[in-house]
Amino acid sequence: MKQHLRFAISFFILTFFAKNTFAQSPASANPNAKWWKEAIIYQIYPRSFKDADGDGIGDLKGIISKLDYIKSLGVTAVWLNPIYSSPNDDNGYDVSDYRNIMKDFGTMEDFDALLKGLHERGIKLVMDFVLNHSSDEHKWFQQSRSSRYNIYRDYYHWWNAENGKPPYRYSLFDVNGDAWKYDSLTNAYYLHYFSRKQPDLNWENPTLRQEVFDIMKFWADKGIDGFRLDAFQFAAKDTTYPGFPNGFEKKFNLYYAMQGNLHGYLQQMYHEVFSKYDVMSVAEGAGNSFADAHNLVDSNRHELNMTYAFDGVDIPKPEGYSLLHFKEVFSKWDSAFQNDGWLSIFLSNHDQARMVSRFGNDSPPFRDLSSKMLATFIMTMRGTPYFYYGDELGMTNIRFDDIRDYRDIETLNAYEHQKNIGGDLKKFMKLKAFESRDNGRTPFQWNHSTNAGFTSGTPWIKVNPNYKTINEETENADPNSVLNYFKNVVNLRKTHPALVYGKYDLLDKTNPDVYAYTRTGEGEKLLILLNFTSKNAKANIKIDLSKANLLLSNYKIPPSLDQGNIVLRPYESMVYKLPR
Ligand code: GLC
Repeated sequence: MKQHLRFAISFFILTFFAKNTFAQSPASANPNAKWWKEAIIYQIYPRSFKDADGDGIGDLKGIISKLDYIKSLGVTAVWLNPIYSSPNDDNGYDVSDYRNIMKDFGTMEDFDALLKGLHERGIKLVMDFVLNHSSDEHKWFQQSRSSRYNIYRDYYHWWNAENGKPPYRYSLFDVNGDAWKYDSLTNAYYLHYFSRKQPDLNWENPTLRQEVFDIMKFWADKGIDGFRLDAFQFAAKDTTYPGFPNGFEKKFNLYYAMQGNLHGYLQQMYHEVFSKYDVMSVAEGAGNSFADAHNLVDSNRHELNMTYAFDGVDIPKPEGYSLLHFKEVFSKWDSAFQNDGWLSIFLSNHDQARMVSRFGNDSPPFRDLSSKMLATFIMTMRGTPYFYYGDELGMTNIRFDDIRDYRDIETLNAYEHQKNIGGDLKKFMKLKAFESRDNGRTPFQWNHSTNAGFTSGTPWIKVNPNYKTINEETENADPNSVLNYFKNVVNLRKTHPALVYGKYDLLDKTNPDVYAYTRTGEGEKLLILLNFTSKNAKANIKIDLSKANLLLSNYKIPPSLDQGNIVLRPYESMVYKLPR
């Protein structure tokens, strides 16, 4: 009973303060405080968020119509996937004009209105910059391929065919896995680490670099607040093209990431762009070691603000994963960045299937609880949290069983490849139902009307049929929904700077079911307990909770703490404030 009352009081206080504090400048007196460390980033995949004009594709006007919803989440920044002109071979990650808006998404006026609308609501905007490659329909490439003597020739990587076949390079999206595409127009091969419609830009060319910095300044002058650099760890290349060992493609990151003068290019970018604006910067990928990651983000090096490493998000496999491994990965990354550098914390994005389907449990009894538990994890770790659209509703994998339902070039080309080599297509489809990026790209589920209220037209990709029960309107009206829990856990982070800056200490390290840790700093100590399983699980920690305040829990009935025994119910999550 006492526990009940304490929970209710702290919840009221939490909600009251959260509603009344919104800080643009750092809320902490900590000398290392920065707005981007305190930011809570909400990632929007524009194609799938909200369609305003009925063509079945999400657009900027659609996002504008939902700005109050975004504000209601309490998030402080939005990361938008690419919105530039693009033939959409890879849904906007193939840019044909970096200074224009993709027709499907709207106009530059729409963009200006979106930025203004976000800023009026105190929300910052982080844009996605695709600078490792452009579209083959970009005018640079059109010029480049037209003649060996064109002034744009060296904007890309070419290998003249009279020199024989170039040394093998692996392509992530090519049906044959070949990153060199022969172009008869000039009897030469061009390099594409991704699809053949995504030729790699030649960062070794200073003129290209200057063009790119000008583009970045164009957007920074518009007032955007941050840059996410897509696939940037691959940008620098050894243009002598040494041969790589057989089978290198299985560990291609070792050969592609952080090559040549990458750090030099980032330092130049910092000098030319980042240092001139109050913007945050994050590149996708963090190299191959902690040393690589530190070299990207240690503040005295003047490169980037924070790492975005894949070790955590890559953990789940169709057969499951080990929580011990998960704890080890996140704890290692935390300790490696205790003193310098800064981390991103995320469990999903547009390149992953849905968070609850991979890390949690999307079966009906546990979807709600495990979604809330995972949101608690993201919001209570050290590092800037990135939260992917739809995860706040607990949206799940759609699990297509027909290849014709897929839209993603990665899945479609991998399917073709399997077909060509006589692979096991049944097995392939099963794997993709678990991991295909399209699982995470289905339309946002706004309500239970046709197409989940996403579009009045035909959606570009199927809507998950579970929208009748999992949707924003229904969850908004339910105080115990995943959505309302998400708002509370966001408020919790905003009102407890210990969750941003506090030291992270892992407890009960060898417990295979429970993730327990404390966050200490800024005058307080919080304890986080998370059960990652569908069974009751005991936390072996020696902390007396009888005097602790339960700040947040994903169960309506607070836990009973019989004789100091802490037994967590399935996927239970709890955040306690400990007495000092
Ligand atoms: C990055 C993006 C991914 C894209 C690829 C090529 O990994 O996150 O969506 O397909 O780069 O641009």
